Amino acid sequence: MLVNAKDMLQKAKAGKYAVGQFNINNLEWTKAVLQTAQELNSPVILGVSAGAGKYMCGFKVVADMVKAMVDTMGITGPVALHLDHGTYEDCYKCIDAGFSSIMFDGSHYPIEENIAKTTELVGVCAEKGLSLEAEVGAIGGEEDGVVGMGECADPNECKMIADLGVTMLAAGIGNIHGKYPENWAGLSFETLDAIQQKTGDMPLVLHGGTGIPADMIKKAISLGVAKINVNTECQIAFTAAVREYIEAGKDLQGKGFDPRKVLAPGTEAIKATVKEKMELFGSVNKA
Ligand code: 13P
Repeated sequence: MLVNAKDMLQKAKAGKYAVGQFNINNLEWTKAVLQTAQELNSPVILGVSAGAGKYMCGFKVVADMVKAMVDTMGITGPVALHLDHGTYEDCYKCIDAGFSSIMFDGSHYPIEENIAKTTELVGVCAEKGLSLEAEVGAIGGEEDGVVGMGECADPNECKMIADLGVTMLAAGIGNIHGKYPENWAGLSFETLDAIQQKTGDMPLVLHGGTGIPADMIKKAISLGVAKINVNTECQIAFTAAVREYIEAGKDLQGKGFDPRKVLAPGTEAIKATVKEKMELFGSVNKA
């Protein structure tokens, strides 16, 4: 069932677990994530970056594909289709395309402008029944050309944005996209705790889920994180499995060159990664 993310995240926050957002890149990716969610009876959020949307021929193609797959595959649990790190313009494109959820990333604007644009989108999303994620304090690392410095958000600014009526709030707590460097200082639980004290019931979002140790994930959930984004880890798992297939010369045996055969190990690797995350996040059997 394609739904917005409000209900699943409020339940996750109250139940002290987190729903995974897994970014998708193509049909195989989407199928792998949806199959795993169904098998584990877990709610799930499919994340789409601007770059991935463009790669798949636009947001409309993504929305139509996801809707048809959810329907045809008979996915019974809640699935949200969510724009990841949306610009103001892309938010409107995804609303028109039929997404059920959007993220407006206004973290690079001065806080007044972030507030003004987020306020406008709160109104539009409420009218159209979408959920909305806002961001305060840029997430570090590089993702589709969006570069942040891994700063820690100001808890007072978090409260200002949370009070606008957004569904969920992403706040920088020293997390970064992609692989973490050797000398990474870890998540700032002090910042997270201060943000959760100020924002109360607001489901908090942890970006950069790849490579965060399990104990830090668990602690973050205990401090109010209800949505965790994972992208790079599925990409690494997919590519390693496809590499193994090619390096073993399997593409040269029989009809091993069939793209469905070449991509199959990669798809299985995504499923294994998603399963591991859903178990760690505690969302199994919460659909
Ligand atoms: P990773 O690529 O580090 O898992 O981050 C994903 C993310 O936060 C998407 O917004």
